[in-house]
Amino acid sequence: MKLLEYVNLKVVESLKGKDLLTWLDYSSEEIGQLLDLAVDLKGLAKSNVYPPLLAEKTLGLIFEKHSTRTRISFEVGMNQLGGKAMYMHARDLQIGRGEPISDTGKVLSGYLDGIMIRANSHKMVEELADAATIPVINGLTDLFHPCQALADLLTIYEVKGHLSGRKLAYVGDGNNVAHSLIIACAHLGVDITIASPKGFEISNAILGKAQKIATLNGSIILTTNNPIEAVSNADVIYTDVWTSMGQEEETAARLKAFEGYQINDNLVKHAKPDYLFLHCLPAHREEEVATSIIDGPHSAVFQQAENRLHAQKAILASILS
Ligand code: CP
Ligand code: NVA
Repeated sequence: MKLLEYVNLKVVESLKGKDLLTWLDYSSEEIGQLLDLAVDLKGLAKSNVYPPLLAEKTLGLIFEKHSTRTRISFEVGMNQLGGKAMYMHARDLQIGRGEPISDTGKVLSGYLDGIMIRANSHKMVEELADAATIPVINGLTDLFHPCQALADLLTIYEVKGHLSGRKLAYVGDGNNVAHSLIIACAHLGVDITIASPKGFEISNAILGKAQKIATLNGSIILTTNNPIEAVSNADVIYTDVWTSMGQEEETAARLKAFEGYQINDNLVKHAKPDYLFLHCLPAHREEEVATSIIDGPHSAVFQQAENRLHAQKAILASILS
């Protein structure tokens, strides 16, 4: 407590011990408070101040899929908060040989203070969270990528000064990143239009849940199959890969289906002149985004990637401390 007062930090007390599987389980106020904390932690880090809020804590990181940003930002984040992170690839654990994820969750709860998991199936992460007695953080599943969305909002806030009433256009696949983004935008009063080709739209069930949250916060969520309609007058343009991890065999069909959805110089003409371009990365240049855009003056993708670290430190400090 003394330490928190010294650095004037407010962890989000109501989140202590809570899982983070999707922002659907969090209140709009809690997400706003996490963003405030992320801003404060980033400010301290820029002055080389690293409050050891998680001294003696160990976070396990389980990966079923590749990662650069998620793995490294969680490891560095735990180090900066005075704790430790332990990387495990799922194939090296006994789950790779068929041990139930529920038994794994119970066992790991005896050693660790929290688990971050990147998994193929969201259902598996729910089973892990049900069995574990320690918090479980979703580091990407087939359905959601909540940590990414918090970093995205932090970046928009930093560049645009405020979130409420900003207009975001997500053009591309109705995937895990899009799902977490619509929920986070709904919580923080950001208007969001999703443009996806027919057959690649976001889940109707998740859209319905996000709409309910949006109504409470005055944000407008729209969906369309027309990228120009989505981008018109947008403050922020966001895209992600057309072929996510695990969908590689669909690549050719997806390249065809997403024709006309590339973020390029012609499309961005419809946005506000000072539009911001975001991408969760990794990107496929000249597929979902033209090189001139992702490497151009409106792009903040590397600031966005750095913000994974600061946003996740806010999550970790609140859930684990
Ligand atoms: N954006 C993101 O989650 O990146 P990684 O796959 O590198 O973790
Ligand atoms: N939608 C992408 C995001 C990668 C961070 C995927 O799931 O591969």
